[in-house]
Parts: sequence; structure tokens; C-alpha cells
Amino acid sequence: MQTTQRISPAKAISGSLSLPGDKSISHRYALIGAIAEGDTSIANYSTGADCHSTLGCVRALGIEVEGAGTEFVIRGKGLDGLRAPAGDLDAGNSGSTIRMLSGILAGQPFASRIFGDESLSRRPMQRVMKPLAQMGARIDARDGQFPPLRIEGGSLRAIDYTLPVPSAQVKTCVLFAGLYADGSTTVTEPIRSRDHTEIALREFGADIAVERRKITIAGRPRLEGRELVVPSDLSSAAFFLVAALLVPGSHLSIHGVGLNPTRSALLDFLVGMGARIRVPNLESQNGELIGDLEVEYSELQGGTIDGGLTAALIDEIPVLAVLGAATEEGLTVRDAGELRIKETDRIHTVVENLRLMGVEAEELPDGMMIPGRQKLHAAKLDSSGDHRIAMAFAVAALRADGESVIEGADAASVSFPEFWDTLERCTG
Ligand code: S3P
Repeated sequence: MQTTQRISPAKAISGSLSLPGDKSISHRYALIGAIAEGDTSIANYSTGADCHSTLGCVRALGIEVEGAGTEFVIRGKGLDGLRAPAGDLDAGNSGSTIRMLSGILAGQPFASRIFGDESLSRRPMQRVMKPLAQMGARIDARDGQFPPLRIEGGSLRAIDYTLPVPSAQVKTCVLFAGLYADGSTTVTEPIRSRDHTEIALREFGADIAVERRKITIAGRPRLEGRELVVPSDLSSAAFFLVAALLVPGSHLSIHGVGLNPTRSALLDFLVGMGARIRVPNLESQNGELIGDLEVEYSELQGGTIDGGLTAALIDEIPVLAVLGAATEEGLTVRDAGELRIKETDRIHTVVENLRLMGVEAEELPDGMMIPGRQKLHAAKLDSSGDHRIAMAFAVAALRADGESVIEGADAASVSFPEFWDTLERCTG
């Protein structure tokens, strides 16, 4: 059911927060845990609906998942331990679930069908269908490219694949299929994308080599269950970092956040614009870098996001666009065509909501231009069912000149169900 949230301007953003587990890492731990041998215990598992879609699929494939809240044990049965699901697999709103799980399904001796909600049913799947077909799987999709996917797996050939688009989901899909292939599968990326899969596979005992943008995985490894802790999600932290940077007088700390270098370009970009952010207590946990974040309200210069930086900041662009309007020189985003095929066309939904707030913003074919030094006016805004749009505009509303309304606020629960309570806590 769609819900509405009313957001008043904030006096300051303050306090000390612990945020839910990283969405990308949670998916990977659950999926690899399912095909590893023995128990994998996962602490601080993401509370987002997307990661629960992954757990639902894992269960439907005959793997016992125990636990609740943020602590789960996956009773893995090894590479060949999955069984044919009784019905269709439901990926919900989750592009990560359908694309990454497809790689595993392609290696199974049974056929399966996987579907999603209305938004996921509009997202392109050729990017995973093509390499999986080259490996020998048979995949059908609605109109040749949209979910549901019907995957008939079996014995797979190792391939050498260059990704036509920078996508960690597609990279992961091919690497997962590579686990089932004879020989070594190589994936080459045009631009380095998040490398949680490579790190996690190594933790579980896979034989994986990374040489610049070339990742090689040996087929048929013995994966072993592990005890894992998921770092807090930097992409969720981004909403609070931006909120603190937007509202004068703010001072906020956030604990135990994942700072993997393939994700942390956000911090470099913000600091480069003049943000006062400190990162104390860096450490490594299950191969992932984690640390605390301390942020204070800062006056920012503005900047440009393009090329490889766009790929590194892809999930944070909606909230950075909001911030852009309040900077000195504004924000330009280019090379971001991928944003048009996320949960919504995020170039369009961002620009539309900014305009509803009285902000001048221009939609470009591959990005947007938002001049700086603009005031955000209270408005009635709409998430269009997209979690990151709901949260980005809740943050915008904190700096507006009156009470704003966010329709479709419930969408936030796809990645961050605690978002609204957390926001209330740190706006006091
Ligand atoms: C993700 C990769 C990105 C990102 C998504 C999560 C992942 O998508 O936008 O939220 O966990 O691998 P693409 O692979 O489509 O770029």
C-alpha cells in the first residue's frame, strides 16, 4: 500500500547512527552461501525488501535459511545442492536478484522461471541473457528481453567475456555461471565496477584472480560456508551525509560503514567539493574495508560527474542532484544513460521532482544539469515507486521553506525500511 510522508524543514541533522547492512554485499553472501558447503552465518544482513527477495529465492531452491531480522544462517549444500523450485521464483523489485541469480540458475540441471514486479518487468535482461547463452544456457524472456526469464541450465562452457556496459550485476552473473563451467571464465570490464563479488568469492574459497580490469574464475571450486558480518550500506549513508551537508548547523556520525574503494568515490567527490568529512577507525572485515563517518554542514563548490565517476556514483546521483542545487556552481551529470533503466528513469524522476520544488534543472539525454545557488521550495513530491527517489527528496525537503509531502514513501523499504524513523531521530 502506498504511504505518504510529511517532511518539515530541519533545524540541524545530528546524532550518531548505525545503519542497516549493505544491500549489494547481503545479496552476494546469501547467494554464495546457498551454493557453498555447510553453514554460512550472516550478521547485519540488509533489512531491505530486495535482499529478502533473494532469501525467498534461495529458500524456494531448497536451501534452509534460519533466522530473522538481520541475523541469518544459510544451510548451504554445495554447488550441486539446489533443487528445482516448485513454482516461479519471485525477484520482487530487485534487479540484483534476477541478474545475479540467473548466473547460478544457468548452471543447474533443471529449468526455472524468475519474475519480478511491474518495475522489474520493464528492465532489460539481454545483458545477462547474451553471455549466459554463449556459455550454453537456454534463456527465454518476454519480448526477447524482459522478465520473466525462463532459464534452462545445464553444463556450461567457460567463456572470455567483455562487458558491453559497466555493470557489477552482469559481472557477477557471469562469474557465478563460471563457477559451474569447465575451465576458467574471464570477465573484462570497460570501467571498474563494485568488486564485492570478487572479494566474497575469495572469502568462500573460490579460485579467483584479478588483473586490472580482468577477472578470472576457475570452474567447479569447493566453496565453504563462512561466518560473515555485512558492513553498513554507504549508499544508505549517502542520504544522511547529504542531509548534514545541506542543513546548516548539522554534525552527524555514522558507524561501521562499508568503504570499499570501488564504492567510496562518493566521499572523494564530496570532499573535493569542500565537504568536511572525517573517516576515523578504518579496518578490514571479511575482506571489505569499513570505517566510521563524521560529517559537518559545509558550503560546497559544485562539480561534474562523468565517465568512470558516473559508474562509481550511479546509486548516489539522485541525492547528489538535490545537493547540487544548493552548491555554489551547481552539478552536471553526464554519461549516465544507465540511470534511465534503474527502478525508474532516474534522470527524469529527479529532474521532475526538482522542478516541483521550484528548482531549475535540465534533462540531458545522458544526464542532467542543475545550476547552483537555488532555493528548494516545499512541494508535493512523488517517488514513482523508486526507493532512492523517495529518500533523495525527503532529504531535499529538509532544506525547503515549508512542509513537503512525499507520495509513495513506502518505496524506501526496498533498500532501507528504517529510513523514516532514522530521519526523525536525527532531525530531533
Ligand atoms: C549493484 C550494481 C549496480 C547498482 C545496484 C547494485 C550490485 O547496478 O546500481 O544498485 O549490487 O551489483 P548495475 O550492475 O546495473 O550497474
